[in-house]
Amino acid sequence: MSHFSIKNGALCAEDHPLTHIATEFGTPTYVYSKAAISRNYLSYANACLENGRTSQTALVCYSVKSNSNLAVLHLLSQLGSGFDIVSSGELLRVIAAGGDPKKVIFSGVGKTGDEMRLALSHGIACFNVESISELHRLSEVASEMNATASISLRVNPNVDAKTHPYISTGLKENKFGVAIEDALDIYRIAANLPGISIVGIDCHIGSQLLDDAPLLESLDKLIELIDVLAVEGIVIHHLDIGGGIGIDYEAEVPVTVSDYLNRLFRKIDAWRAEKYQGAPIKVLFEPGRSIVGNAGVLLTRVEYLKPGSEKNFAIVDAAMNDLMRPAMYQAWHGVEPVVLRDGEETIWDIVGPVCESGDWLARARALCIEEGDLLAIRSAGAYGMTMSSNYNTRGRAAEVMVDGNESHLVRQRETPEQLFALEKILP
Ligand code: LLP
Repeated sequence: MSHFSIKNGALCAEDHPLTHIATEFGTPTYVYSKAAISRNYLSYANACLENGRTSQTALVCYSVKSNSNLAVLHLLSQLGSGFDIVSSGELLRVIAAGGDPKKVIFSGVGKTGDEMRLALSHGIACFNVESISELHRLSEVASEMNATASISLRVNPNVDAKTHPYISTGLKENKFGVAIEDALDIYRIAANLPGISIVGIDCHIGSQLLDDAPLLESLDKLIELIDVLAVEGIVIHHLDIGGGIGIDYEAEVPVTVSDYLNRLFRKIDAWRAEKYQGAPIKVLFEPGRSIVGNAGVLLTRVEYLKPGSEKNFAIVDAAMNDLMRPAMYQAWHGVEPVVLRDGEETIWDIVGPVCESGDWLARARALCIEEGDLLAIRSAGAYGMTMSSNYNTRGRAAEVMVDGNESHLVRQRETPEQLFALEKILP
């Protein structure tokens, strides 16, 4: 834990909180803001309240894959959040962080029998089932345990999310969910399977959506399907609209959470009033990026400056193994010197020490920097640490959470010995 203060209303270099954090915990380090995470979560929770929802009629299920640090999960569970998980590992994390399994929904196309058993034994709220085979497997597993699995079917509304092809999931060509045309038949099968109780409907069309139009289009399709199911006597108690909206990385202007949720609830309220005498349907959200993305930076130090005839490289101590998004999606992350220097800017590629040309964090950035300077790679709170690896036998970065004027180490930097502790030499 470190303390820092603002002197005479201004921060000088040594007083900058990130300088303190780098001195105390080293670099590279992910730094998260407790206040920003809380604020972002509350933008969803409060929009639900403002639309007349209670914890019984709306639930934000934070998507654990975006940032699964226990301190993040603990904070969100204290704020009342539920959780969207995709593995038994994530379920165990949620429980270790004090999260309530009864507010957990389990997504993913490849849940194993063991994962199903673990989730059932903890009484999770719902399995988002993604195929007929999975439905049968779940029925068998639940029946063996004399348990009942509450399910939603993840339907693929065939709506173009207009986002990066790698993170677009709602089109027919994707591996996710079941085609909306097949959903009725699969619900009929589910209704007659032992150990299965139909509770909801689910979709997730992609991530980093800046506009809510594709989400509202998906909602229309789910509503139509729920009405068809109702005629068959299949009652849907909750509607899960999937992940949250996108964030501002460069100069994007995403729709605000409150505008999106207001529009969504208005549509739902009009539909329920017309068709169901106003009887509510519970609404679930699975936001990840919009809660943690802009609540975190990756703090890194410039090791070497390597000017060249074609390109100038700033070699930093963070690498693609710490933040994969640039290498994997050509993602753009802002880069800011922690302390600004007076002087001429030069165009730099910010790269790591990993032995791959793909190891870059940012390209062609105008910066005035020197060796030893600290840089903050912005918008790194989501899909940063969770996607990191140990490539090149690099220990994962430390993680720190800032709470007011205190910073807490919430994950130690991995040591090389820890990285090969599970390995063995032949006898
Ligand atoms: N629900 C499901 C079923 C998902 O697959 C995802 C994200 C979410 C919720 C959360 O979506 P969000 O609110 O974060 O948009 N690694 C990529 C992002 C992959 C997203 C995968 N699914 C990236 O770094 O951009």
